[in-house]
Amino acid sequence: MQRLFLFTLSFLFLYSCKVKQENPIALKHKTSKNAMIVSANPWASKVGTDIMKQGGNAVDALVASQFTLAVVYPRAGNIGGGGFMIIHTPEGKNEALDYRETAPAKAYKDLYLDKNGNVIPKLSTYGGLAVGVPGSVAGLYAAWKKYGHIKDWKKLIEPAINLAKNGFPISKAEAYRLNKYKADFVKYNPNNQVFIKNEKWKEGDMLVQKSLANTLQIIADKGPKGFYEGPVAQAIVNKVKKSGGIILAKDLQNYQAKFRKPISVDYRGYKVISMPPASSGGVALGQLLKITENYPIKKWGFHSQKTTQIMVEAEKRAFADRAQFLGDADFYHVPIDSLLNDDYLKHKMTDFRWQSATPTDSLMAGSYTLHKESFETTHTSVVDQNGMAVSCTTTLNSNFGSKVIVDGYGFFLNNEMDDFSAKPGVPNQFGLIGAAANAIAPHKRMLSSMTPTIVTRNGKVFLVVGTPGGSTIITSVYQVILNTIDFDMNMYDAVQAKRFHNQFLPDEIMYEEGAFSQQVIDSLQKKSYHLKQVKALGYVKAIMSKNNILEGSGDQRNMDDTVDGF
Ligand code: GLY
Repeated sequence: MQRLFLFTLSFLFLYSCKVKQENPIALKHKTSKNAMIVSANPWASKVGTDIMKQGGNAVDALVASQFTLAVVYPRAGNIGGGGFMIIHTPEGKNEALDYRETAPAKAYKDLYLDKNGNVIPKLSTYGGLAVGVPGSVAGLYAAWKKYGHIKDWKKLIEPAINLAKNGFPISKAEAYRLNKYKADFVKYNPNNQVFIKNEKWKEGDMLVQKSLANTLQIIADKGPKGFYEGPVAQAIVNKVKKSGGIILAKDLQNYQAKFRKPISVDYRGYKVISMPPASSGGVALGQLLKITENYPIKKWGFHSQKTTQIMVEAEKRAFADRAQFLGDADFYHVPIDSLLNDDYLKHKMTDFRWQSATPTDSLMAGSYTLHKESFETTHTSVVDQNGMAVSCTTTLNSNFGSKVIVDGYGFFLNNEMDDFSAKPGVPNQFGLIGAAANAIAPHKRMLSSMTPTIVTRNGKVFLVVGTPGGSTIITSVYQVILNTIDFDMNMYDAVQAKRFHNQFLPDEIMYEEGAFSQQVIDSLQKKSYHLKQVKALGYVKAIMSKNNILEGSGDQRNMDDTVDGF
């Protein structure tokens, strides 16, 4: 009896070791020689690495990791949202893929206004009317179809299906989020038994998602048709309608991901390749870098008073232009070349004076309120053994998007419609100058700040970088690039370095504790800069390739960020 007891005990011990071993851990920093992936979750990074070990390339790894994130990181990983990708091939070709959500056919400019022209609170953030036509499944499939190496599409979704079907132990951060949004889940999905429990979620609880596994299996078997047509599409239409929305079956059928020419700017001998509209990220990042290139910030030093002042003033100007000129270029002429023109950018700084902050009203006529954007997005960076790289940012917009779950199919729908300007084109009355560029129109893509970026030198990958963080995405990516190129930081230090952010309006420099010395703070305040300390800016995931070594870093600001590779 005693022997049986000891045998059972040692079996249980060995079993628990095995289970523990199989659960990947969140590792923030790693170097490797061949391939690397950094994502917001250990499972997603493991799946991506496994795919590359099996001969898959960076696109295969990215696609597999994104389906995995839809299971293990449901607050932002998704099949019900959209995103952007920059792809760099081993031959040196760069391409952007836009799989941003679109406005439904029945959407119109004043969709979220009451009869007096006022924005109806929460209509563009909660429930069915907040949902844009999802792009993720079409985008991931388009990337794989054009660039994937693994022939079998199903193989890329299999790990996600297994994690959904068998469950996985949730992290502390995930438990916190699931508890925090319980009331919203109940409101829009009273019968859901996956995300809603009587007791509180805690770290280590198993999240089993059988209906999501079934949906993923349909996508694995049928490709995008399994999502955009047939029972899944019908269930989306039904649930959106039931929750007050307007997506039609033909909106889903007509959805198309689009390959686009990326924004490409030279910066101190490097080529910075980033996302064109419908994201504002690439244009704004390009403007920031090109303005900065005119100043010796390396000599002035990291976050010195002069460096900071130039960066802040560049940020103000880039965000003023963003507000005025950026929107979906398929619908509205975005003057990309002019916005990135050297003379234009030099001219933009002619009213800058070292003595004091440039007043915001001199940067754009009239009053203006910057559209509030969500911080809940997720980024994945990948480099494979042949030098192919992918930088991909995806989102549901807010945490768990609109909070609407597709009944019977187990996935959240985005609330991306909130990224449109609800009250465009009436500058003086409503303070939204230039917002016509981002006004709602049927089939149009809403403006984004997502900035998936790849930096190359002599045609080879130097840096793959991106982050969640709404408008702070752009300035976080900007700072990580400066940290590596101007301030010679390694990848880990460049990611962890304290950050700051200015987005024109509100007229303030948000900064993380420790970002500036007291002397710099005092000096900036004397020059009429308004400073506001915030908890964290961006959760950067980046890979640097130097001397044939890949160095990856997740962000210590985000508990589950994980680097994996070999
Ligand atoms: N939903 C946030 C963004 O696209 O920038």
